Order: sequence, then structure tokens, then C-alpha cells
Amino acid sequence: MKNKIVYVIFSLIAGLFILNACRHEILNPGNGSGGGTGGGGNLPPTSNCNPDSVYFVNDIMPLISSNCTMSGCHDNITHADGVNLTTYTKIMGYVRPGDAANSKLYKVIIKTDGDRMPPPPMAPMTTAQKALIQKWINQGAKNNSCIGSCDTTVFTYSGAVKPIMDNKCAGCHNPSNLGGNIDVSTFAAVRVVALNGKLYGSIAHQTGYSPMPKNAAKLSDCEIRQVQKWIIAGSQNN
Ligand code: HEC
Repeated sequence: MKNKIVYVIFSLIAGLFILNACRHEILNPGNGSGGGTGGGGNLPPTSNCNPDSVYFVNDIMPLISSNCTMSGCHDNITHADGVNLTTYTKIMGYVRPGDAANSKLYKVIIKTDGDRMPPPPMAPMTTAQKALIQKWINQGAKNNSCIGSCDTTVFTYSGAVKPIMDNKCAGCHNPSNLGGNIDVSTFAAVRVVALNGKLYGSIAHQTGYSPMPKNAAKLSDCEIRQVQKWIIAGSQNN
């Protein structure tokens, strides 16, 4: 009997420690800016990403996949205007390495008239996204990539979730282009799919959900974990 009581007390204390450990992890969002590599920020020690470099695989292809290669546009099936932007080699047909100003890819995204890409009524790319493409071209438009640009201790909306949504999802999911009737272009809109389970289900490729990002590489385990931790911590506007 006495042994049993000691055991119960011990279990309770151990349980408290474990609970506390989890809570500690959740409440400690770290201080890095996370997300894309182009914007710099605090990177984990294992990262080989140079914060001053823009990487095709990490930064540019996701941006093009979510803004240009959706169905009906520059994908393998439609290739609107004969333009297919689904691979590095194909994209390079519209790029002059080192010279963004004379690269068709850059020229069309900074247009302000009806010829702008993505075309109206779709939303233009953001200033930051245009700058990223410009910088990548001016740095030589290499087919480069780096590892470890993501940090799972960063899981705030602004530091982790928003950069992923903006760069890999929002082109297909904003009020002017509502793929699957889903919007992830604002905090309020992402919160809706965070709460109904669709956000995690789709990025983790769970059965019963459409795998996202559509027709593009799965998010890294680290990115999926960041989004998951943000959801578990209450999908706050932090
Ligand atoms: C190229 C366009 C495109 C990109 C990029 C894209 N989506 Fe989608 N998404 C769609 C379309 C279209 C649908 C409707 C279902 C379908 O066609 O598979 C959809 C459906 C969804 C759904 C509903 C899934 C379900 O099973 O109900 C969610 C949630 C979603 N997307 C989130 C995302 C997130 C998060 C990203 C970025 C990681 C993303 N999408 C990237 C086009 C896209």
C-alpha cells in the first residue's frame, strides 16, 4: 500500500515535469525570423544558407509554382501563350542571368498595366516577392539550393506561418484566386483552415485532404512542424 502511494506521487511529479517541458517548448517561440531564406534572419547552426543569397529551389520555384503554374496558366497542360514555367530550364527561357531589368520574367511581374503577371484580376506579386526574383536574377539566376533555412523553434504567425503562406500558397489562395474556395492570404483567413483541420491535413498530406502545395514539392518536415506547432499553440496572430 505504502509503495503504491509512493509510486502515485512519483508518477504525478514526473507527469508535471513532462507537462511543463511541453509547455516550455510551446511558449518559447524563439527569436528568429525564420521562413524564407532570402530575407535573412536567425538560422539554425546547421544551416548552410547564406542570408545574402537567394536560392532557386528554396525561394524562387515555390513563388513561381504558386503564382504562375496553376491550372489554366503556365503549367504543363495549358502553357498559356506558349509559356511553361514548371522547371528551372523552362524558366531560364525568360531570364538573362545577372540582368533582371532585361529579363522577361522580371519585366512582366513589375508591369502596372493589363499585361502584368499574374494578370488582373489576380493580385500582383508583393514588393518583397518582386525584389526576391530581381535579386536572384541579378545574382546569376543559378539553380541553387541550401539546407537548414528553417527553425522549428520559430512558429509564430509572422515569423513562420505567414512567410510560408505568402511564398508557397497565397498565389492560389487569395480573394482574387480562390483555389478550392480557400484563402490563406491573411491571418483571419488562415486561422479558419487552421481551426477546421484542413491546413495541417493538406500540408502533411493526410488521407482525406488534397495534398498541398498543389503540383509542387511538399513542404519540408521543418515547415510542416512550424505550422503544426503554431496551430497547437492556438493559431494566434503573433
Ligand atoms: C498551384 C495552385 C495551388 C497552390 C500553390 C496551393 N494550392 Fe491549395 N488548393 C489549390 C486548389 C485548386 C485546391 C482545390 C482542391 C484541389 O484541386 O486539389 C486547393 C485546396 C486546398 C485546401 C483544401 C484541402 C481540402 O482537402 O479540403 C487547403 C487547406 C489548401 N489548398 C491549402 C494550401 C496551402 C497551405 C498551400 C501552400 C502550402 C497551398 N494550398 C498551395 C491550389 C493550390
